[in-house]
Amino acid sequence: MWILNGPNLGRLGNREPEVYGRASYDDLVAACMTAGEELGLSIEVRQTDDEATYVQWLHEAADRGVDAVVLNPAAWTHTSVAVRDAAAALTAPYVEVHLSNPLAREEFRHVSYTAGHAIGLVAGFGVDSYRLALQALAKHLR
Ligand code: DQA
Repeated sequence: MWILNGPNLGRLGNREPEVYGRASYDDLVAACMTAGEELGLSIEVRQTDDEATYVQWLHEAADRGVDAVVLNPAAWTHTSVAVRDAAAALTAPYVEVHLSNPLAREEFRHVSYTAGHAIGLVAGFGVDSYRLALQALAKHLR
């Protein structure tokens, strides 16, 4: 199972802690690895600030038959038809996650281009959003 993080998520901990919490990106990765172990999942976590790389990772996930994907496209959620199209081409189930609740924030965050093909969406629970997504996907794959 892959967890693909988009732009600025590598800055967690320093970045708007009042919105995204105090956990660093390394804390997020550690929490995902622990949750994966508890759920018996093999987890790979990646982050990029480059949209082309993110799209290529989605192609790679499809080509390599990755069993499921947790997607936090960050700002590309609200802007990127390219990420949406690459996510739509995944044959594996994916869950979109957000640390914050975009619907409780600025209006430009109220649209998700990327959630349309997801099996579900978890938002607003900080690092726990990822844990919940992993639980949901583990159950879905059972
Ligand atoms: C985010 C929400 C997005 O609106 C924002 O652009 C991000 C992070 C979240 O996890 O809360 O960068 O995806």
